[in-house]
Amino acid sequence: MYKHGIIALLLLAARNAAASCVHNTSLKPRAEDGAVPISTFGYTGLTGPFNWAGLDAANIACSTSRTQSPINLNSSTASKLSTRPTFSFNNVSSAEFENLGTTIEVLATGTTTISGKAFTLKQFHFHSPSEHRIDEEYFPLEMHMVHEAADGDGAIAVVAVLFEIDAVDATQLLKAVTRNIDKIQRPGSKTETAGLDFAELTAHLRNAPLLTYQGSLTTPPCAEGLTFIVPQKPMPLDVDTYRKIKGTVKFNARYTQNEAGLENILELGCKAVDEAKKAAPEPSSSTVESVVSPSASAVTATGTLESTLASTVAHASSASPTTTTTSCSSSQSASPTAAAEDSVTLVEGHHCIAGACVKRPAATAAKVRRRSRWERY
Ligand SMILES: *[C@@H]1O[C@H](CO)[C@@H](O)[C@H](O)[C@H]1NC(C)=O
Ligand SMILES: *[C@@H]1O[C@H](CO)[C@@H](O)[C@H](O)[C@H]1NC(C)=O
Ligand SMILES: *[C@@H]1O[C@H](CO)[C@@H](O)[C@H](O)[C@H]1NC(C)=O
Ligand SMILES: [Zn+2]
Repeated sequence: MYKHGIIALLLLAARNAAASCVHNTSLKPRAEDGAVPISTFGYTGLTGPFNWAGLDAANIACSTSRTQSPINLNSSTASKLSTRPTFSFNNVSSAEFENLGTTIEVLATGTTTISGKAFTLKQFHFHSPSEHRIDEEYFPLEMHMVHEAADGDGAIAVVAVLFEIDAVDATQLLKAVTRNIDKIQRPGSKTETAGLDFAELTAHLRNAPLLTYQGSLTTPPCAEGLTFIVPQKPMPLDVDTYRKIKGTVKFNARYTQNEAGLENILELGCKAVDEAKKAAPEPSSSTVESVVSPSASAVTATGTLESTLASTVAHASSASPTTTTTSCSSSQSASPTAAAEDSVTLVEGHHCIAGACVKRPAATAAKVRRRSRWERY
C-alpha cells in the first residue's frame, strides 16, 4: 500500500515576486517612492521557470495551468485577427527606463483598442531570446507592451513584437530606448530614454498580419486570461542594439509551453520521469560495476529534477488549506548544490505522479538509484 509521508519542509523564505511582466499594472503597482523593484524569480536553476511554483504558492498556475505562455505560434495554436485593433502610443521627449533584474522596462503610455474595448499601455519591456516562436523559429528579441483594460475590469492585453537581426535596417525606437543603457547595468537602477517616436512601430502594427491567442503572464505568478497580439513579421534589429540589450538582460525567456488546452508540460514531464523509472530494467551486477561514475552523475541529475518537481508539488499542496501538506522532502540532500539543500530534496523511495508524491516500493527505488543514463539508449 502506498502511503504519503508527512515531513516538515525546509524551505527558502518564499518571497513574492516583486517585479514581473505586469509591473506597473494594478496587479503589481509601482512602489510609491518610485523605487525600482528587483525580481526575486530568475531564469536559472531553482529560481528558474521549472521551479517558479516552488518559490511561492501564489505561482501555482506556472506548473498546473493549461493555458500558459509563451507558445509556438502557428495556424493551429493562434488565429489571425480579422478586425485590426487601433494603436496609439504617445511620443515623449524621454521616459523612465528601469532594470528590474529580470528585464529592462520603459514606462510609456498609449491606448490600444481591441474589438471596441480600450486598453491603456502601462509599460514595455524586453525578453531575449524571444519567448514566442513562429512556426518553431525563435527570434533574438521580443518586446512586451503591457496594457490594462481602461474600464478597470482587470483584463490585460500584451502586444508582443518580435525583432530579427538586420545588417542594414534598424528600429529607431530601440536605439532611442537604449541610448543610456550603460547607466542601468545594476538591477534596481533607472535612467531616462532618449526621445521616443512610435510612428515606425505603429505603422508595423497597422500593416503586418496580427496573430492572437489567450495565454498567461510569462513570469510569476503566470496568471491566465491574457490576450496576446503578435505581429507575424519581425521588425529589424541592429547588431549594436541587440548586443547592448542582451548584455544587460543576459537571458530571460521562459521555455515554450504546451498549446492551449493541453496538460501543463511540467505535470506531463513529472509523469514521464516516473514512467521511465518504472520501465527501467534491472541492470546486471557487472553492468553496475562498470558504470559507477556515470551512475553517480545520473543520480545527481535525477535528484535535482525530482527536487524541483517535489518542491513544486509541495507548494501545490500547501496552497490548498484543505490538503494535508505532504512532500518528497527530507533533510538529506540528493543534490550537491547549496540551493537544493536549502529547499527540498527527494526522500528515497518516493516519487511524483500525477502531481502527487507517493512512496515507491524499496526495490524499485534501489533499481532507479543504480541505473545510469548511459544505459538507457
Ligand atoms: C505606472 O507608472 C506611472 C509613471 O510612473 C505612474 O504614474 C502610474 O501610477 C503607475 N501605475 C501603477 C498602477 O502603478
Ligand atoms: C503548431 O504547433 C504545435 C505546437 O508546437 C504543433 O503540435 C502543431 O503540429 C503545429 N501545427 C502546425 C499546423 O504546424
Ligand atoms: C509621433 O511623431 C511622429 C513624427 O515623428 C508623428 O508622425 C506621429 O503622429 C506622432 N504620434 C503621436 C501619437 O503623436
Ligand atoms: Zn514579458
